[in-house]
Amino acid sequence: MKVMLTGAGGQLGRELARSVPSGFDLAAFTSGECDIGDASVVSAIVAREKPQLIINAAAYTAVDKAESDVAAAERVNAQGPAHLAAAAARAGARLLHVSTDFVFDGNQGHPWRTEDSPHPLSVYGRTKLAGEAPVLQLGAQGLVLRTSWVYSVFGGNFVKTMLRLMASHPVVRVVADQVGAPTSARGLAEALWCAAGKPALHGLHHWRDAGAASWYDFAVAICEEGVAAGLLQRPVDIVPIQTQDYPTPARRPGYSLLDCTQTWREMELVPAHWRSSLRRMLAELKEING
Ligand SMILES: NC(=O)c1ccc[n+]([C@@H]2O[C@H](COP(=O)([O-])OP(=O)(O)OC[C@H]3O[C@@H](n4cnc5c(N)ncnc54)[C@H](OP(=O)(O)O)[C@@H]3O)[C@@H](O)[C@H]2O)c1
Repeated sequence: MKVMLTGAGGQLGRELARSVPSGFDLAAFTSGECDIGDASVVSAIVAREKPQLIINAAAYTAVDKAESDVAAAERVNAQGPAHLAAAAARAGARLLHVSTDFVFDGNQGHPWRTEDSPHPLSVYGRTKLAGEAPVLQLGAQGLVLRTSWVYSVFGGNFVKTMLRLMASHPVVRVVADQVGAPTSARGLAEALWCAAGKPALHGLHHWRDAGAASWYDFAVAICEEGVAAGLLQRPVDIVPIQTQDYPTPARRPGYSLLDCTQTWREMELVPAHWRSSLRRMLAELKEING
């Protein structure tokens, strides 16, 4: 099956590109090669490549910067998926698109189901929500997979930021009142390839690694596992703080854990616990860093 991948240079894009299952022929495009915000570029590449499936891993992911860079976030996160959906419809291709837990406001005490009403608090969340609609309008040919707190050995992310801070500071303060689930881009890529192999799967889905954590819990695990993996020389003190003590331009949901039970069942995939995914990522990072 001919697959076109956009956003191939990002965390997820790189994980997808290195885990292509047999039976799929991948044509991967970085932002420089296919700007999804440009309708004519998207249209020309889809017409040339004639993919049967398009996977969109491209997004404007700088959550805080988006608050002051609204047009750029809208162009990539809202218009980009619309251009891809239009091109997919013309080519008769299926479109798999990735969205975020930040479409929710976090004001509920149990995991968010796909039926729950979104209410984004940030420009990033609002633009990502807008990008879901054209994909879902494809009906049986469109699939949106919302996910959360993505990290990998590639690119910048919370794990790498924490390792850097922990290597140079004896004390690190981390927000403890935002709860969700860290998700490895590697496992997310596996889920997307699984969805690629299930043509009947469509509509709105949630995917994340198993378990739950606050950013503070995640940081504690990064420290413990980082020391065990030999990436940190010694443990540091990690101090739990409140969101109000760490003001950011974008508001974030307090509780954004996604309920994935239906998707895990439909995909027949057992997700890894986030802590074992973290251990695996750190081992790979250690191998890369030497
Ligand atoms: N990271 C997270 O914590 C998180 C959480 C929930 C959901 N998600 C979603 O998961 C998906 C994958 O995210 P990620 O973590 O892999 O993000 P990422 O590492 O920031 O990668 C995004 C990629 O999109 C590319 N891109 C930006 N603008 C583009 C454009 N106009 N046309 C084509 N490509 C463009 C970027 O290229 P340049 O670097 O060249 O700009 C980058 O390679 C996204 O849909 C994201 O919204 C991520």
